Amino acid sequence: MNDLDQLVSAALAEFTAAPTPAELENAKARFMGKSGRVTELLKGLAALSHDEKKTRGAEINQTKQRIEAALAARRQAMAAEQLEAQLRAEALDVSLPGRQRGVGGLHPVSRTIERIESIFGSMGFDVAEGPEIETDWMSFTALNNPENHPARSMQDTFYVDMKDEQGQWLNLRPHTSPMQVRYARAHAARYASELATGQPMPEIRVIAPGRTYRVDSDATHSPMFHQCEGLWIGENVSFKDLKVVFTDFCRKFFESDELQLRFRPSFFPFTEPSAEIDIAFASGPLKGQWLEVAGSGQVHPNVVRNYGLDPERHIGFAFGMGPDRLTMLRYGVNDLRLFFDGDLRFLQQFR
Ligand code: DAH
Repeated sequence: MNDLDQLVSAALAEFTAAPTPAELENAKARFMGKSGRVTELLKGLAALSHDEKKTRGAEINQTKQRIEAALAARRQAMAAEQLEAQLRAEALDVSLPGRQRGVGGLHPVSRTIERIESIFGSMGFDVAEGPEIETDWMSFTALNNPENHPARSMQDTFYVDMKDEQGQWLNLRPHTSPMQVRYARAHAARYASELATGQPMPEIRVIAPGRTYRVDSDATHSPMFHQCEGLWIGENVSFKDLKVVFTDFCRKFFESDELQLRFRPSFFPFTEPSAEIDIAFASGPLKGQWLEVAGSGQVHPNVVRNYGLDPERHIGFAFGMGPDRLTMLRYGVNDLRLFFDGDLRFLQQFR
């Protein structure tokens, strides 16, 4: 191997050993730079004779070309390696499962409310919604709770430190019962001319589900909870009808014809007589246990008057039940707070 061959293999070795493009350029400079080894050889030609210059010059040029070719090859290899590494780093793993779109579902309490609406709907009941911020008159006075009467404290009401345009104190409704009054008054206004001339008025048959609020919080009480009011007013609607309708509803809701109901005497200012409604399952873990599901009663004459109707002519019953409680019983959940924590691990079970 002559000195030029050695030079080529030295260059090849250095190029191959250069770990980065910058070091490769440094290596190049050591051979082709201003005082690089090839450049020095070319400078050396000056001292040679004309003929020697010709042959030696050609040899050196060839050497230079071989080194340049080696450099180009190494540069290309390096670029390819770099691209390869980059591709590896940015690799798209097509075997990874795609990001799933979450499938939403109805909240279990919303399911219950839909169920209540559809069962009562099949019995000819309308569905009404009303405001959650109520007036003192609607929440209490119209429902036969005299002002300052201790019965008002049956409900631990959230009062709003504000009055409406009529100067009425406001509260977060502690029950859906104000909807009896709102709906019945609108109904009475719609049939004002029939009422004025003593003609029959279509019956009032409505349920009013919605959010209600009380200062109360434990495993079975939440400061925000749901109620569903029911009202049936006609000329001949009695407690017997309440029993038939509510029994039918409960048996449909729990899909059991063996479900037992008990109407236990109770007190509510807006009904007389009043009853608490208990149910007992014929099977399952709660079999035979009486469970309270609603308050009810024959609407008090004072309340009928506040509907804008004549209690001598328009009579009927009302009830108020807790869709949260019904949901707990239907699905066997024993902590009400789970419904309102918003934990998807819990809620997804009802999808
Ligand atoms: N509003 C009552 C409560 O929240 C429930 C209730 C009882 C509603 C009797 C009624 C009824 O309509 O007749 O405790």
